[in-house]
Formats: sequence, structure tokens, C-alpha cells
Amino acid sequence: MKVAVLGAAGGIGQALSLLLNTQLPSGSELSLYDVAPVVPGVAVDLSHIPTGVAVKGFGKDDLADALTGCDIVLIPAGVPRKPGMDRSDLFNINAGIVKSLVEAIADNCPEACVGIITNPVNTTVAIAAETLKAKGVYNKNKLFGVTTLDVIRAETFVAELKGLNVESVHVPVIGGHSGTTILPLLSQVDGVEFSDEEVASLTTRIQNAGTEVVEAKAGGGSATLSMGQAAARFCLSLVDAMKGQNVVEYTYVETNSDDAEFFSHPVRLGPNGVEEILSYGDLSDFEQKAKEDMLEGLRGDIKLGQDFVNG
Ligand code: 2OP
Repeated sequence: MKVAVLGAAGGIGQALSLLLNTQLPSGSELSLYDVAPVVPGVAVDLSHIPTGVAVKGFGKDDLADALTGCDIVLIPAGVPRKPGMDRSDLFNINAGIVKSLVEAIADNCPEACVGIITNPVNTTVAIAAETLKAKGVYNKNKLFGVTTLDVIRAETFVAELKGLNVESVHVPVIGGHSGTTILPLLSQVDGVEFSDEEVASLTTRIQNAGTEVVEAKAGGGSATLSMGQAAARFCLSLVDAMKGQNVVEYTYVETNSDDAEFFSHPVRLGPNGVEEILSYGDLSDFEQKAKEDMLEGLRGDIKLGQDFVNG
């Protein structure tokens, strides 16, 4: 298995690379690419950890070498939010970064599964799709927006509120990865009852959890460690699926539904990426209304990405 992390020297990239170095199956290769000159050092640093993973650093002129032969590419590259910013405020800088990295993926490893972490994910996934289409190599089963952080946050907050063992709490989260487009399905959490007030306050907390971190870091960036963990979980699930295991993750993919062109669903992963997009099931009245209220915004986020590539 060969995995590349593009933006490996940043906060998310370093956390993610550490987790992958210690958790990818023995014999895997990990390519760390970044424009920051520290990236070879990050690779050397990680290479001193005794694991069966071969880590190599690639600087700004070596993107093609970093990508050649990759099975999975994860993209956390770009700038993070500062207090007062919405994820969409990152569009001007991050859109171009994602486009050029995805062009290189199309040229060097067009068969790879690509996980987009760079914000605004609602939009950058659409940019990646249009970029791959323009290169004639788009496969909707192999492009993912990584929304796993919303799931792990939801599980943490529910376990905390209800005094449960977090290992046994599973919370579906559908929609997108920004504000009200993040829709936790608390009505589907097995064996747990919530009052209306709890549903309203937990939903808002899950939707604003990224902002909670941005404010706590007070100008020092956004979530890096929890995002690294979430992206590592997603990547390792993809690796398990590619090796034939039956794995389901919630992830932002192209769907054929009426909701929006891209929407987070439970997805059965397999050797070729998406095996099956599963239904997210029945929604409560609260969830149904929250979904209807956010769809227009999400569709607008997607269109912005499509127009960025297609002019
Ligand atoms: C977050 O949700 C960084 O988008 C990421 O915190």
C-alpha cells in the first residue's frame, strides 16, 4: 500500500503522518509532500520510529515522484481558519492549491483514492471532481471529502453528555462539513434518548466544534490533532476495504440523490473505493427540517467549486 500525504509538514499533515507511520500495515510506503522546506526533516524524524512503514519526504519540486504508484492520496494542504472566519473564507487560497495538487494526481496516479481534507471541503471536493473530469480521469467512487471528524466529535460529545463508553457510541453524521450543513442524526443513536433541548444543543455543538477549536487556539489555527486522527481512521478504513474487509464510513461523496450532488452518506468501501452508497435512513422531524434548511447553501458551495474550475 502506498499512501501520500500532500501538505505533510502542516499541523494536520504531521499528526496524520505520525498516525499512519505507526498504523499502516507493515510493508506500506508513506510519501510526505509539502512546499515547506521542513518536509524532509519531518520524514527523517518519523523514519526513526521503528515501524514496518517506509517514510520518504518530497519537496516542492518532487510532487510527481511523491505520487507515482500511490493507492491513496490524502490532501490536508492549505491555510487554516483564524477566529471570526468561516471555512468558506479559505476558498481564495485553498481552491487553487487543491486544483493544482489534484492535477498532479491525475497525471501521476489517476487510479488512486483521493481524500480531501482541505477546507472548505463542501467546495474543494467539487473542485477536485471537476479537475479530474477535465483531465479525463474522474472516478466518482474514488473521491472522498473526509468528514470523519464530525463523526468522532459527535460520538465524543454524546458519550460525555450521557456518561457512556465512547467505544460503544455510534453517531451518523450526514450532509457537508461546514456549519449547518453538518447534520448529526441523533435520532438514530442506538439505546440513547435525547430531550428536544439536548438535540438542539448537541446539534449546534457538533456543527460549531471546529470553531470551538479555532477560538481556543486564538489565532494559532484550527483542529489539527483531532483532524489527523479522523483522517487516519478514514485512511485505515480505506486500506482495510482495499484488502477485502467490509467497512462502512460516513464520507462526503458524489451521490445520485436529490439532496445535493455531493453529500455525506454511510458508504460501504471496497477494493475500488465506494462499493455502495447506503441510505442514511429515516430522519426525525427536527433532522428533516435541518436538512431542508441547509440544502440550498450546500448546493451553492458545490457550484462555487464547479465554477472555479469551469469558469
Ligand atoms: C474542523 O472541522 C479543520 O475543518 C476542520 O475543525
